[in-house]
Formats: sequence, structure tokens, C-alpha cells
Amino acid sequence: MAAEKITLSIIKADVGGYVGHTTMHPDLMNRAEECLQEALDKGMLVDFKVMHCGDDLELIITHKRGEEDEEIHQLAWDTFVSCTEVAKTLKLYGAGQDLLSDAFSGNIKGLGPGCAEIEMEERKSEPIVVFMADKTSPGAWNLPLFRMFADPFNTAGLVIDPSCHGGFRFEVLDAKQNMTIELDCPGEMYELLAFLGAHSRFMVNRVYRRSDGEVAAAASVQKLSYIAGKYVGKDDPVMIVRSQAGFPALGEVLEPFAFPHIVEGWMRGSHHGPLMPVGFEDATPTRFDGPPRVIAAGFQLANGKLVGPLDMFKDISFDPARQKANEIGEYLRRHGPFEPHRLPLEQMEYTTMPGIMDKLKDRFVQNA
Ligand code: 13P
Ligand code: 13P
Ligand code: MG
Ligand code: MG
Repeated sequence: MAAEKITLSIIKADVGGYVGHTTMHPDLMNRAEECLQEALDKGMLVDFKVMHCGDDLELIITHKRGEEDEEIHQLAWDTFVSCTEVAKTLKLYGAGQDLLSDAFSGNIKGLGPGCAEIEMEERKSEPIVVFMADKTSPGAWNLPLFRMFADPFNTAGLVIDPSCHGGFRFEVLDAKQNMTIELDCPGEMYELLAFLGAHSRFMVNRVYRRSDGEVAAAASVQKLSYIAGKYVGKDDPVMIVRSQAGFPALGEVLEPFAFPHIVEGWMRGSHHGPLMPVGFEDATPTRFDGPPRVIAAGFQLANGKLVGPLDMFKDISFDPARQKANEIGEYLRRHGPFEPHRLPLEQMEYTTMPGIMDKLKDRFVQNA
């Protein structure tokens, strides 16, 4: 008999920042715990953890209801609505920021919150890492996912573990056209990179092991800016990565973050900056509202129980990456309002430019 499947759902939203966009007020975490505990007591969930990265509330839930389950999404939505009430009482900043709809309508995708889910048959041992980032966007995962699953200079297992030799399949979203394409590595690596490099438009949605189609990673790729048609806050992303035994080893999953690559986000969601890997305690971006942060929570799944989290980036071996990120951040900051520190116009989330153009339109003089 096939083992019962477990679904891991990470659903997140910014429902109010403390102070400004910095971090999460403990009262919101407590309210979220109460909401999820009630669902657990009713038998709806197997386990849960409430975490935060910066000002984003992260619901980490295990259950047996499969991906995109209406009741699980409803539970997350109701939890965010309830936490928004707390945020309003405390007059926290941007209370309900990511809740773009007045009512829930079956699936949380498209309503504002971010969501990454994997339904799996738990292996004999199931080490997973949940990555959560603040002050950036879903394209931030492209480079690390490529390195984990396609770059042998990062992942030794691609060379020395026969169970990885079949390579991995990347499902990539074109956020502008709302279409997806699947590309196989190593065979279609160059085509894949042509897309992944353009990370403001193309982003990895899922990764599969080609030998058996087993899902290896899932990311939240909802682009709030495209959903809302105007700036409503950055779509700070999450992702789930399975590791070991036919997948990249744990250290191979974390290794890409030793290089603080440049992502979109930071101040007003309108700047380029380095993605700094930090311990849970340090996910409080304040320097120019940044630099962008990523935390990694390690878990062993045990029949759906979340054994963890282990704070994976707390390790002192990530100190040089933090040092480098701060140096790069300082260098970019010196550009002030100049590109490439400030995003190009099309990607500016605070679309101040149309307003400025409008204000000054009568002062433009046509050249002969
Ligand atoms: P151990 O020998 O400690 O189990 O490690 C194996 C491994 O895959 C490390 O990457
Ligand atoms: P968040 O997307 O984390 O809310 O940050 C928005 C912002 O404007 C930071 O300067
Ligand atoms: Mg915020
Ligand atoms: Mg945020």
C-alpha cells in the first residue's frame, strides 16, 4: 500500500509592519498561533509553525488535504484577516497590505498572499529547507535554484551521486504573459539561463527530478505588482526545497546563498541590493529598509510533524557572505537615486514618474 501523502504549505502575507516595514509584532504571531492551533485541534492540520521574515508573516503548515486545498487556503486567509485586526488596533504600518481582495474566493493565489506547496510521499528521512525572504521579489530564487539543481560547481551530487545524474526539470513562469514552460537540465541549460537571467519577468515555479518526476522544490511566484496593476508592496517570496538522497545535499541547498547576489526590492521596492543570508534574529531590515534578507528554516518531517526549525544561516560560516553583502550594499547606496541602484522605470514599484511627467508636461519644449 502506498504511504499516505503529506502536504507542506507555506502561505505568507504582510498584514502590518512593526515599526514601519521592519519586522513582526509579537501580538500578530500570537494571534496566528491561536488561529492555527484551533484548526489543529479540530483535526484539520498535522502540524504548523508560525514564523516571520522581516514584516512578513509566514504560516508553515502540514496536512493531508493536498495542494491548493480550498479549506487550507481559507484558513490562511482567515488567519491573515484576523491578524490584520490586531495590526489595526496597534496601528501597525500597512495593516492588511497584502490582502488585495475584500473576500476569499476559493484559492489564495491572486488575492495577494504568497504560497508554495509540495504534496509528497515522505521518504525514510525527509530533510527540507523553507526559505523566506523580505524586501525582494520571487525572481530572487532563480540564481540559487539554478545553482542547486543545475550547477555542478555548486552541487557535487550532480557529478558524484548517480541518483542525480538524470538532472532536473525547471518549470518557469513568464509573469508578464502568465504562461509556463518546462526546460530540462543539463540538456536545455543555456535556454533555461536565457530566461532565468531575466528574473524580473521569468521565475522558477517548481523543480522536478527528471528520473522519476518527483518534485524537488516549489516557490511562490505570485507577482503582486502584476496582480494589482499598481504598487501594493513587494511580493516577498518563499520556497520549499527537499534535500539529500537523490536531491542536493543540505549543504548544497544552502551553498548558493554564500554569494549575496543582487536582487530587486529594498527601499520602496524600487532598488537593487544584495540578498543577505541571516539568522532568524537578524531578519529585521532597517538600513535603507534593507538590505534584502533571506532566512532558511531546516526541518525533518516525521509523519508530517515539523521537527525544527533549525536556523540554517545562523552558522558563522555565512559571516563572510553577510560582510560582502554589507560592502556591496554600501557601494550601491552611494548611487543614491541613480540606476542601477534604483530600478529601471518599468520595474519601479512606486510609479512616481507618471506623476512627475504630468506635473511638468507643460514645461517640455518640442525640439525642431
Ligand atoms: P554523512 O556521511 O555525515 O551522512 O554526510 C553525507 C552527505 O551527504 C554530506 O553531504
Ligand atoms: P515590504 O514589501 O516588506 O512591505 O516593504 C515595502 C517597502 O516599501 C520597504 O521600503
Ligand atoms: Mg511591509
Ligand atoms: Mg516584507
